[in-house]
Amino acid sequence: MSFQNLLIEYKERIQYIIINRESKLNALNKATLEELHTAFSDAFNNPAVGGIIITGAGQKAFVAGADISEFKDIGAEGGGGIARQGQKLVFDVIENGNKPVIAAINGFALGGGLELAMACHIRVASENAKMGLPEVTLGLIPGYGGTQRLTQLVGKGKALEMILTADMISAADALQYGLVNHVVSQENLLEKAEELLNKILLRAPLAIASAITAVNAAAKDGINGFEVEIDAFARCFTTKDLQEGIAAFLEKRKPAFKGE
Ligand code: COA
Repeated sequence: MSFQNLLIEYKERIQYIIINRESKLNALNKATLEELHTAFSDAFNNPAVGGIIITGAGQKAFVAGADISEFKDIGAEGGGGIARQGQKLVFDVIENGNKPVIAAINGFALGGGLELAMACHIRVASENAKMGLPEVTLGLIPGYGGTQRLTQLVGKGKALEMILTADMISAADALQYGLVNHVVSQENLLEKAEELLNKILLRAPLAIASAITAVNAAAKDGINGFEVEIDAFARCFTTKDLQEGIAAFLEKRKPAFKGE
C-alpha cells in the first residue's frame, strides 16, 4: 500500500508510521486521516507486525494540529461529521488497537496532534517538544477526543487550564503532569520508543491485547471495567501462550510466545 502523506517503515516486528507533510508541520488534513485509518487497520491485521511507533517527519513537529485550512465554511453538521468520523476511524481505532502503539513526539504536538498522541498507548517526547490544545484561539474546542483524554491523563484542573488558556507546555511540564511517559533528547527519541516497544514485544501478545482492552475499559462510560478485566483474565486461560509462560517459568527458561 502506498500513501501520499505517510511513510511506512519496518524494523523487525515494529512498524513505523511517519506523518509526512513536513512543509505544513504534518497537519492532519482529510487525506492524511484517511491514510492513517488504513495504515493502522493494516498494521493491526498484519501478523508480522508486533507494535507501532508513530512520529512526524522532520525535526520540528510531530503534528501541529488538524489542517485549519479545511475548516472554512463547513457549518455545524460538517463540523460534527469531521469530529465524529475522525474519532471513530482514527483516534478510537488507535486506542482500541490490539497491538501497542507508541507516539514518539518529536516537536510540536498541538490540537489534533496532541489528540493523536493521547490516543496512543504510550508517549515519549523529545526535549524540544511543545504540547497544547490551542483550539479556543480559533474559536473551536478540541474535537478528536482531546477534552476527554487530556482529562483522563492529567486530571480536570490541569486539563481545563491547558484547554482554556490554550498555552503550550514544555516536554518537562508534560512529564510532570503525566501527559508523557518519558522525555529524552531528540536524537535518542526513536531509540527510546523502540526500547520500550521491544520490551513489550517480548511479552505474550494476546495478554498485551487483553491488557489494553481492560485498561481502556476504565475510561468507558457505562462499562464495568472490573468485569471486563475478569473476562479478559479468564480468556488468557484459553491461550497456548499462558501454558508456555507457565512452562517457561517452571523450567527456568525464557518463554517463546506465539500469540496463540
Ligand atoms: N493547519 C494547517 N497548516 C498549518 C498548521 C495547521 N494546524 N500548522 C502549521 N501549518 C502550516 C503553516 O500555515 C505554514 O504553511 P505555509 O508555509 O504554507 O504558510 C507551515 O505550516 C509552517 O508553519 P508556521 O506557522 O510558518 O511555523 P512557525 O514556526 O512560525 O509556527 C506553530 C509554528 C506550530 C506555532 C504554528 O504553525 C501554529 O500555531 N500552528 C497552528 C496550531 C494550531 O492551532 N493547531 C490546532 C488546530 S485545530
